[in-house]
Amino acid sequence: MLNSQGRPTQPPGASTGETGTFTGNRALDMEEALIFETGRLDATGVDIDEPTPFRSRLGPHARQGEIGLPGLCEPEAMRHYVRLSRRNYSIDGGLYPLGSCTMKHNPRLNERMARLPGFADIHPLQPISTIQGALGLIDELATTLMTVTGMAAIAMSPKAGAHGELCGMMAIKAAIAARGEGAARTVVLVPESAHGTNPATAALVGFSVRPVPTGADGTVSAQAVRAVLGPDVAAIMLTNPNTCGLFEREIGAIAEAIHEAGGYFYCDGANFNAIMGKTRPGDLGVDAMHINLHKTFSTPHGGGGPGAGPVALSAALAPFAPVPSVVADGAGLRLVEHARGSPSFGRMTAFHGQMGMFVRALAFILSHGGDGLRQASEDAVLSANYIRVSLNDLMSSPYGERPCMHEVLFDDRWLKDTGLTTLDFAKAMIDEGYHPMTVYFPLVVHGAMLIEPTESESKASLDLFIMTLRDLALSALAGERERFEAAPRLAPRRRLDETRAARQPILRWTRPAPA
Ligand SMILES: Cc1ncc(COP(=O)(O)O)c(C=O)c1O
Repeated sequence: MLNSQGRPTQPPGASTGETGTFTGNRALDMEEALIFETGRLDATGVDIDEPTPFRSRLGPHARQGEIGLPGLCEPEAMRHYVRLSRRNYSIDGGLYPLGSCTMKHNPRLNERMARLPGFADIHPLQPISTIQGALGLIDELATTLMTVTGMAAIAMSPKAGAHGELCGMMAIKAAIAARGEGAARTVVLVPESAHGTNPATAALVGFSVRPVPTGADGTVSAQAVRAVLGPDVAAIMLTNPNTCGLFEREIGAIAEAIHEAGGYFYCDGANFNAIMGKTRPGDLGVDAMHINLHKTFSTPHGGGGPGAGPVALSAALAPFAPVPSVVADGAGLRLVEHARGSPSFGRMTAFHGQMGMFVRALAFILSHGGDGLRQASEDAVLSANYIRVSLNDLMSSPYGERPCMHEVLFDDRWLKDTGLTTLDFAKAMIDEGYHPMTVYFPLVVHGAMLIEPTESESKASLDLFIMTLRDLALSALAGERERFEAAPRLAPRRRLDETRAARQPILRWTRPAPA
């Protein structure tokens, strides 16, 4: 196509590329328009015969006109999605320091195991006699999780951390109802530093949330818990290690206090990666705790893919666990599918959980062994502390020199005189080829920067990351504001107006009127 001056018109999407190239491409980094912009309404990638006429029963609901789906031939569709996939930052592409997410390497052995036909190709409705191996794996994983947590039972079916929270809190609600205290105990205590899923879960289950203040040292004290405890409290939801990356030192006393008051102790175990093999939550007085298999045992995390959040339960809560569960009897392994006649709160998923995640998690556990799991925790903590001490002469830590667990938290006090913000610093990391750390979370710390390197980074990789952050920090402190305020300069898209994007989101593409 030529424009009015006879020059070729740029392809769709290229005008926003800011590259100075005709295509908008940046060498092999390809610009990519929306599929609606590149596709043609009159084209199709497949030849489908006209359907034989039939009598539609849709009546007034039948489609009234064309729906305008873009047509592309197969190579065009393929390239569109491959180019988009190259825009993803991934743990396979680089260090992914997203605090609270435990973005660790997923060993390929796990993938190989998960793809074995006996695990990958089975269907949840197959006769039990044909899936004895799969049930055996679920059972073995459950037993292993009971061993590492020191808890009496495991509910395997929850499909994510937050789903596990829901499962644990439903078990607590059922236990309280069974005691005849359902109407009296309506409050759940949640520390201010908690992950947002905790209060959301408590509210979803019908409890009201009473906050517990986080102390000046970033942890929750037993005294602060006692101050808000009462006969109306059903449970506390406490994360350990907490979202500030700190071990809750008074966890034992907090458990005692909540039990004395007749409540249950829900522990958010999403950060189990820092303590597995070192501490057993069951020994700390925990009644229910989810484990994010996709974090601790390295199944892929993020992007909305399948997760798994099995919940470990104490003996007091075990009878209320959901169905289905795997049991062994003389005839082999079978599934208990119905809650009838038992105190179980029932079923929360259609089937038995995320089989692929179970296989990956057990492969991770068995290939590490007990000593390897312990070393993974130690290395995760070591990596975070290595980053902490390597940066703390430049960046400020909200809780001083105290060693952290698996993630290190900085605040924005060190940026005070630079006119720059945490967001500016994070955006400049993108130009350096890093996915930023978690920012502005936890909320209890001003301008929080939460870095979680995990155990899977080599020293060389950590050193490069540290040197990059030091270079950026020195640049910020030297007043080189343009490096930050203009960032990201080298990403496919420049910085968004995040306020406008949140307040006036454009969620739908509309076809421009013909020129
Ligand atoms: C402390 C904490 N709690 C709960 C969750 C929720 O887990 P999920 O994202 O699997 O629902 C996360 C997620 O990373 C977390 O870090």
